[in-house]
Amino acid sequence: MERIQAKIYENNPDLFTYPQMKNHLDLYKKYVRNVNDYFDDSDNPNINYDANAVMLHELFFENIKSYANTSDKSNLLFKNMMGFNFYMFEDWKRDFIKTAIKSRGWVIFGFDPILGIYRNVSMESHDKGFTIGLESALVLDCYEHSYFMNYGSDKAGYIGAFINNINWDIVMDRMNSITLATS
Ligand SMILES: [Fe+2]
Repeated sequence: MERIQAKIYENNPDLFTYPQMKNHLDLYKKYVRNVNDYFDDSDNPNINYDANAVMLHELFFENIKSYANTSDKSNLLFKNMMGFNFYMFEDWKRDFIKTAIKSRGWVIFGFDPILGIYRNVSMESHDKGFTIGLESALVLDCYEHSYFMNYGSDKAGYIGAFINNINWDIVMDRMNSITLATS
């Protein structure tokens, strides 16, 4: 019996071709199957890895813009909020890009409850590098499987295209929820 279901995500052709996206979604579905298998046979030493992979991919696919959602208003709100932690949006962007370039797994922009600030966090893999309690607002998959088919070794090009295709409505919704939960 399937305890969790793979979600359906729309492709954004400005960021990925259909084969690239399909390949990535197939990988995500494999992690969903692995988690479901765990309910039948809990002898899976990689369950942290698989469960994190499901959660991270869902956060990532959800914060990519599709043609249905393009909000300049949320983008502006985000730029204003950045003044809280970074001097300017461009400073945040530079730090996000720098963090993503060196990340082999993921980069998460999230609220660190210990420091009491938002920051960009680098993850080595699905289960290595996460800050316990970090509340995710924006997630980028940095694994080569997420971009190699379309961008080759041009990781910076992929990161730039991603930044131009962020679903800011989702990011602002997450940040508003984080503010409510932590204030
Ligand atoms: Fe991935």
